[in-house]
Amino acid sequence: MRMLVTGGAGFIGANFVFYMLREYQDISIICVDKLTYAGNLSTLESVMDDNRFEFVKMDICDREGIYGLFEEKKPDVVVNFAAETHVDRSITDPDVFLRTNIMGTCVLMDACREYGNIRFHQISTDEVYGDLPLDRPDLMFTEETPIHTSSPYSSSKASADLLVLAYYRTYNLPVTISRCSNNYGPYQFPEKLIPLMIANATADRPLPVYGQGLNVRDWLYVDDHCAAVDLIIRDGMIGEVYNIGGHNEMRNIDIVKLILKKLGKSEDLITYVTDRKGHDLRYAIDPEKIHKELGWLPSVRFEDGIEKTIDWYIDNREWWEKIINGEYKEYYRKMYGSVENK
Ligand code: NAD
Ligand code: TYD
Repeated sequence: MRMLVTGGAGFIGANFVFYMLREYQDISIICVDKLTYAGNLSTLESVMDDNRFEFVKMDICDREGIYGLFEEKKPDVVVNFAAETHVDRSITDPDVFLRTNIMGTCVLMDACREYGNIRFHQISTDEVYGDLPLDRPDLMFTEETPIHTSSPYSSSKASADLLVLAYYRTYNLPVTISRCSNNYGPYQFPEKLIPLMIANATADRPLPVYGQGLNVRDWLYVDDHCAAVDLIIRDGMIGEVYNIGGHNEMRNIDIVKLILKKLGKSEDLITYVTDRKGHDLRYAIDPEKIHKELGWLPSVRFEDGIEKTIDWYIDNREWWEKIINGEYKEYYRKMYGSVENK
């Protein structure tokens, strides 16, 4: 199988590349990534010499480049992880989210149509459903939950989802969509909650918690997401959406306290900061469909996954220290400047 994976130098895309190369001998992966601030070639170091893997630096919005690549590589399947992904950045600069997340998806699907009605899988998010109230634990997102977005990020992802379903209906493009809950694990960019808190706690810097830290996210270890995507690509029903989540809801403040405890640091480092605009209260996925239809179940318990993740960040300081000492420094100063020196 020749698989084209976009966004493979980012967090989940890279973990997916590793997962597929581990699982399948007879696979060849072409990884396309623009290497934005969130893409990191050093993440892919361990597979660069694998003759089943090839890296191409390219913007998914570059129609000519993408068509040329499809013509040359003739992929059998395309998995689109490439996206602008950070909600806070989408609030200050929505433009690039619309460009990459919507137009990029359009270009990839047009190329799929042009070069043989190629199988296309879109990596989406549970954020397209908006949020759930904190006082109704019985409510969860199913695939039937209406799209109801809050941030420019989730709106751009939802727009792409609508376009993907339209390409199925209008052109009969063989598509599937997966909507996963929050992922955690190795190689996540340190602007996201878990790696940010690990990095700050390690350096005895303040841990910026938005609002009162009561917002709830449903956390899934990244390999479990990769396994689900693999299953959908192989056995999923064309034209269908699959939710992915592990019934692991946690309040932000509890995650932060757990990280501090594991690292042996004081809770005095917790600093409550101004809440995110439009901050979604709670996400919770009902994964019944993928379980019933494809037999998927998560395999990593949160207690084990978070332990593994913290250990990974401790053992791989060089990977994230390079990031936090680079251009990310300026973003951090703008975003959290007032909590720099507690
Ligand atoms: P990430 O920000 O770590 O990585 C995104 C990658 O896409 C980077 O390598 C970046 O360089 C690349 N990219 C960005 N714009 C590009 C462009 N125009 N052309 C080519 N490459 C481009 O993101 P992630 O957390 O790995 O998320 C991957 C996908 O999974 C996204 O589509 C995201 O919406 C979805 N998702 C993420 C989560 C999560 O918890 N992280 C949960 C559900 C869904
Ligand atoms: P994040 O990792 O940005 O993922 P998402 O917003 O896509 O769920 O944030 C996870 C939660 O953590 C979210 O409720 C916002 C909160 N948060 C903080 O409290 N402080 C921070 O510095 C960050 C980045 C996030």
